[in-house]
Amino acid sequence: MAKLIYSAITSLDGYVEDEGGKFEWAAPDDEVFAFVNDLERPIGTYLYGRQMYETMVYWETVSTAADQPEVTGDFAEIWQAAEKIVYSRTLQAVSSARTRIEREFDPDAIRRLKESSGADMTIGGAELAGQAMSAGLVDECHLLLGPILVGGGKRALPDNLGVRLELLGERRFGSGVVHLHYRVGA
Ligand SMILES: NC(=O)c1ccc[n+]([C@@H]2O[C@H](COP(=O)([O-])OP(=O)(O)OC[C@H]3O[C@@H](n4cnc5c(N)ncnc54)[C@H](OP(=O)(O)O)[C@@H]3O)[C@@H](O)[C@H]2O)c1
Repeated sequence: MAKLIYSAITSLDGYVEDEGGKFEWAAPDDEVFAFVNDLERPIGTYLYGRQMYETMVYWETVSTAADQPEVTGDFAEIWQAAEKIVYSRTLQAVSSARTRIEREFDPDAIRRLKESSGADMTIGGAELAGQAMSAGLVDECHLLLGPILVGGGKRALPDNLGVRLELLGERRFGSGVVHLHYRVGA
């Protein structure tokens, strides 16, 4: 059965976006970007909340010319190759290939997708991933914690959820980012 994985780059105090709606402080340097690319490479399908999709669809048309950094061209190729499902009650149309819209988040449909999928799947942003975690659908988390406190904003992890985690791996990066890899529901 395929795994459903939640990955997020967060501040140390656990936010994916600050109170001003900004997340530039989360931008990965080349070392972290290359690591993220290796996490994403085997993923077959991305499940996106509409807001995260609107951020990530940039990668559908980004230039992969030789003058661009290798890590960004690599990520664009990985992103464009994956299947995408966007959860939204408002989005009228998608602007990327291999993409469909779902109007409702149906946990049983996701369970069936995990059973039938030949490759692991990811879920983001935080709002949609929180629903999946609360429904017991998320198998693993990759958290990349940056060396910054932003004091408030959108939380990476859901409120009102109590669940044990098993640490599967960790790594530190030159920028001060720390990667924590957990199994959910140990
Ligand atoms: N830290 C980083 O590295 C990083 C990177 C990229 C982006 N970001 C930020 O992360 C934020 C992610 O946003 P988010 O976590 O608030 O939102 P999200 O989960 O990406 O999207 C929320 C939207 O998904 C749809 N949705 C949620 N639950 C649904 C359900 N049960 N059924 C149908 N549709 C559902 C709704 O869309 P509709 O309103 O259309 O119905 C909802 O407004 C972005 O705002 C972006 O700024 C951070």
